[in-house]
Amino acid sequence: MNYKTKEEYEAHINRELISADEIAAAIAKAGEYIDSIYDGTPLILVSILKGSFVFLGDLCRRVTVPCEIGFMAAKSYYESTNSSGIVNITMDLHQDIKGCDVVIVEDIIDTGRTLNDVVKLLNARGPRSLRVMTLLDKPERRIVDFKADYSLFTIPDYFVIGYGLDYGEYYRNLPYIAEYKE
Ligand code: IMP
Ligand code: MG
Repeated sequence: MNYKTKEEYEAHINRELISADEIAAAIAKAGEYIDSIYDGTPLILVSILKGSFVFLGDLCRRVTVPCEIGFMAAKSYYESTNSSGIVNITMDLHQDIKGCDVVIVEDIIDTGRTLNDVVKLLNARGPRSLRVMTLLDKPERRIVDFKADYSLFTIPDYFVIGYGLDYGEYYRNLPYIAEYKE
């Protein structure tokens, strides 16, 4: 991806779907949800890179109970006929989650494959509890039966950009969520 001008770059931003204010309001509630569940036991918020780095940054500042932050990056590979894949951890957590409460913080659940695999992998490490929070959910696209414990927004089958989500590594820095236009 290489945009020659700002006009060319902006021409692919179709329309705003979720405003920065709507995102902020939903994140304030999501922080309260985390505060209401956890208190006092070791808690780790695990961001799945790269898409969730903006969400995690805002979410963690709405959490008031003690928590650690962790990062991991994962890619899943599939054969066309097989819905459960091999998750390839391209960057692993730097902390041990055994006995800890874990919240996986994800940008979007699409087919469900990545999180399905990441949850299995992290559960095998013996956390005290494991929950999944996603900013966006596209249930129409699901291939693997996977449900988040907490989803901030449900969206139709659009390809979206902004607030951490990319097209060809661009648009992650948009402060709102937009539909991408080919
Ligand atoms: P999965 O299909 O649920 O495994 O989702 C895999 C990854 O695809 C997500 O974590 C996102 O990084 C990416 N993805 C899915 N849908 C979109 C989208 O609409 N915009 C940008 N990235 C997406
Ligand atoms: Mg992602």
